[in-house]
Amino acid sequence: MELNYKRMKTIAAATWKSPSNIAIIKYWGKKKNQIPENPSLSFTLSKCFTETSVSLVPKETKSDELQLQFYFDKKENIAFRLRLLNFFASIQKDFKFLNDYGLVIHSANSFPHSSGIASSASSYSALAAALCDIETQLSNKKASSEKQLLADAKWIKRTSYFSRIGSGSACRSLFPYASVWGETDAVKNSSDEYGIGAENLLHKDFKTLCDSILIASSREKVVSSRVGHSLMKGHPFAKTRYKQAESNLENLLPALKAGDWETFGNIAENEAMTLHALMMCSNPSFILMNAHTLSMIESIRSFRNSSKIPVYFTLDAGPNVHLLYPKSYAKKVLEFADYELSGLCEDGKMIHDFTGNGIEKVK
Ligand code: DP6
Repeated sequence: MELNYKRMKTIAAATWKSPSNIAIIKYWGKKKNQIPENPSLSFTLSKCFTETSVSLVPKETKSDELQLQFYFDKKENIAFRLRLLNFFASIQKDFKFLNDYGLVIHSANSFPHSSGIASSASSYSALAAALCDIETQLSNKKASSEKQLLADAKWIKRTSYFSRIGSGSACRSLFPYASVWGETDAVKNSSDEYGIGAENLLHKDFKTLCDSILIASSREKVVSSRVGHSLMKGHPFAKTRYKQAESNLENLLPALKAGDWETFGNIAENEAMTLHALMMCSNPSFILMNAHTLSMIESIRSFRNSSKIPVYFTLDAGPNVHLLYPKSYAKKVLEFADYELSGLCEDGKMIHDFTGNGIEKVK
């Protein structure tokens, strides 16, 4: 049924902006509902974000069925709406207002949809923040400010929890600078259910981390995260991998505190290569890099060896390379990237991102 939302009164509304994040210790392998097999640690980005507004409108019919209109880049998007229906089906019992009202959602990304950058982390965290904001508005009978919500530890936990239900990595996008997700003795208050802020674990130099995303290909990923995670079930190296993630995290933490870029970089590269190696030897097997990814990696390593500049890389489950370095070396690294790496990027595309503050309420 086509609903005429334009003429409807808005009961409550909220708009939130949430960034993407880049994992140094990777989440790869999960149990039901995105309960991770190992703890992960990520840095929060700035320039790559999603902005999502959610409006509650009166329901056309009395049924409990969810009424949802979804617009992406101002155009109604049926494919995204269908994906979201699964998410809403799993959270409908937790947000009573979803039974009582219809929803109109508008969402847009700061980065092009076809840039090969995964948007699930930024989009589900922005959506979860808007839903939790509306829930608070309805129960308090008035809107809360961004400051009030971000200072409320329970609200943050709940928002991170529902971000995770949408996409595991999304639960780490809320926090300034960095986040840890997944229960581990190495990090106090860590949980499998939600991410926690990790700013307090960082030396000040790591707060200046830059991440230049080198677009080796803007095509859709060959393997969705869902399929990738499921290939870890019964993988011959699964147990060893989960132990390795724990020990990489244990070794990373003192390096983050001390401002030790070399240890940080070696662990970041080891995690990225492990993720790709796991996919290469899974059944079926997948190669997620392309020839340009490999050339970039070689070029980065040789530039690092000759210049002694602390520049390292990580990869997500795709061919794009994330170049990691401290801001104090940005000028030299960007010269190197322009000169040696841009030719390996699709149409020369690079996105120069850096650490940011996490979710923001948009007025
Ligand atoms: C390689 O969070 O996209 O980026 O929980 O199935 O939505 P789902 O997976 P997702 O997996 C991200 C995997 C990764 C590593 C990471 O971000 O930790």
